[in-house]
Amino acid sequence: MRAKRTTLVHLIYFSRLALSSEPQLRASQLGDITRQAQKKNEFSVITSLMMVEQNFAAQVIEGERQQIQDTFGRIAEDPRHRDVQICEWREIAKREFVNSFTIVARTPASEASFNKANLLPSLQRGTPKAAAIHALAVALQSEAMSKQGIDHLFV
Ligand SMILES: Cc1cc2nc3c(=O)[nH]c(=O)nc-3n(C[C@H](O)[C@H](O)[C@H](O)COP(=O)(O)O)c2cc1C
Repeated sequence: MRAKRTTLVHLIYFSRLALSSEPQLRASQLGDITRQAQKKNEFSVITSLMMVEQNFAAQVIEGERQQIQDTFGRIAEDPRHRDVQICEWREIAKREFVNSFTIVARTPASEASFNKANLLPSLQRGTPKAAAIHALAVALQSEAMSKQGIDHLFV
């Protein structure tokens, strides 16, 4: 009999970022997080998308159960954010995200999706729904991918 495949899970959490209010410093702090997370996630075969809305972060991370557990253990201890709360942690049939770690913030390009999801009030109350975070992450990824396709064809 064929060996059972490892269990694939996704974890959705949100937190309050504890970064600088100075835009340039904040951007470089987010850059540091991105570099660390990309490197580690590539090594652990984790795929992920993180959204930044004002001072909140919400992230979907997916991968093999043990890798997600180890990675989230580190994320939860990171002093660059606090009030880290899990919304959902469950088995999934397949991955939905393509990159090891992508941050998407509210920009003119992503604004429509952020507005539609309207996550901010629920993040402020501490009650965002996993499904809402997940749906926004999927929408932002598909926007970014179609943009890349267009760039690729027309640049
Ligand atoms: C909001 C946020 C999201 C993060 N996401 C990841 C991630 O997806 N993967 C990861 O390995 N580290 C992530 N990190 C960084 C980890 O907390 C940690 O700094 C990094 O994994 C390096 O850990 P180490 O210094 O113990 O080796 C994130 C940090 C923050 C603040």
